[in-house]
Amino acid sequence: MRITFCQGILAVAITINLLILYYISRLQQRVLHRHREHMPPSTHQQLGPLKPGVTILIREFQDFENYVPDVVRSFVKQKPELPAVVVADRLPYPPMGLPSMPSVQVVILKPAPDQPAHTSRPETYVRTAYVALVPDGVKADPTSQLERMLEEFKASQGKVEMVAAPVRSLMPLQCLNLKVSLKRWTAEYTPAAPSSKLCTALKGEAVLLLRTKDLFNLSVPLAKPLMTSLFIQTSLRGWTVRILDISFSAVHQPLLTSSHNQWKADNLAKASRLQLFRDFGIKRVLLEDGKEQWFGCSKETQRCFGTIHDDTPEYLYQNRWTPPCCLKALRETAKYVINILEMSGVRYWLEGGTLLGAARHQDIIPWDYDVDLGIYLEDIPNCELLRSAESGSIVDERGFVWEKAIEGDFYRVQYSEHNHLHVDLWPFYPKNGFMTKDTWMDHRQDVEFPEHFLKPLVPIQFAGFLALAPNNYRSFLELKFGEGVIENPEYPNPALKRMEKGNGM
Ligand SMILES: *[C@@H]1O[C@H](CO)[C@@H](O)[C@H](O)[C@H]1NC(C)=O
Repeated sequence: MRITFCQGILAVAITINLLILYYISRLQQRVLHRHREHMPPSTHQQLGPLKPGVTILIREFQDFENYVPDVVRSFVKQKPELPAVVVADRLPYPPMGLPSMPSVQVVILKPAPDQPAHTSRPETYVRTAYVALVPDGVKADPTSQLERMLEEFKASQGKVEMVAAPVRSLMPLQCLNLKVSLKRWTAEYTPAAPSSKLCTALKGEAVLLLRTKDLFNLSVPLAKPLMTSLFIQTSLRGWTVRILDISFSAVHQPLLTSSHNQWKADNLAKASRLQLFRDFGIKRVLLEDGKEQWFGCSKETQRCFGTIHDDTPEYLYQNRWTPPCCLKALRETAKYVINILEMSGVRYWLEGGTLLGAARHQDIIPWDYDVDLGIYLEDIPNCELLRSAESGSIVDERGFVWEKAIEGDFYRVQYSEHNHLHVDLWPFYPKNGFMTKDTWMDHRQDVEFPEHFLKPLVPIQFAGFLALAPNNYRSFLELKFGEGVIENPEYPNPALKRMEKGNGM
């Protein structure tokens, strides 16, 4: 085959083109490669062991006024190659002006869609065995506090999981005991003994040192407010913190220079605290000064659990009990309804699970979701609210909603129009010495019973007041639920969800 001159030229041109393309692609690869050098080590590279020493981690600071670069510089002065990681929810703006050294890094927790997941995970950047959580405005001095903290921590190895060095400030660091019960949606802070250095929570500013692998094995290691979040998680794991005789000074006190900035910071702190308790499912907080705070569940909010299927509310599947605010609302509704029944001359008695709770511990069963009362059918006309409820639901002057239930011949009083926590009123009438009714629910306890249990009715302590119960209520309850029901608590539908053993009330 002969090749013409034109064909020869073409072949040479194609070859040159290919060479150029190859060269360009090599160049691009090299550029990409160089770009990667500015990114943190990739996941398999970082799996290497942690190095000895401490990384300082700064998590809480305000974009609009902070001293983070000064904090970092003061620590780097103590120890020039000290790694520092600044963790922010989003890129701080205006820029902070951190010292530009490879050992100082900023982590943005908000994932960027063009970056691998590990770039937004702080554990990728903390490569030392220990980490010190440093508040904004802390000044390290030449006495190498961090090294001493580490020595003290190692000396108390196995006894505590964290050590804390107070920041000298207007408010002395407080040592607290924190008890969190997720089951009861509650966190309870109490002051530790005055001279105690062993705490389960701290209040105030401190540098906190712990093992890196402990910090990043928490559920949410760096949620804000950092100390609140941290101690909730560590107290649930039984960890303690020791307050050391080492302290740090502050750049100035108070940290923020204007009352406007302080106001902004306070509002942000309040919002993140609210979000944290919401995320952790904590609805009731008892503070160290005895004050009580409630999160969620009010007359204006919806009931904080959904429609109940098979007698088993969703919180039981989450291994939790009735939210405390719901119990409080149920108690309030029960007391209110019972008062109205008594005033209007409607004979009533605690029924079913409600009576069971009263017999067991004078209160609503901690995982119950409503209150049941029996009433005499013939007494209904005595109560104007019940009479009116016949012809449609009505909201009374206190905001409670009275209505005839759609599921059958009984009445329901709801906590409010928004919040459908309720007391059910079951009308019974006597027939041949037994109490009976026309609507039956598919429940073991929903059966006829001899009228003598109601003659007379007897007072019983319930939910903080005196209510009326059938006489001989132990046999009444055993007739309805079976023998030993008072002593052997069980969830409403044990076939679906059993109570764990050793899980006392
Ligand atoms: C991480 O925490 C779990 C329990 O919270 C614990 O069982 C496990 O041993 C911890 N892992 C490490 C490496 O500490």
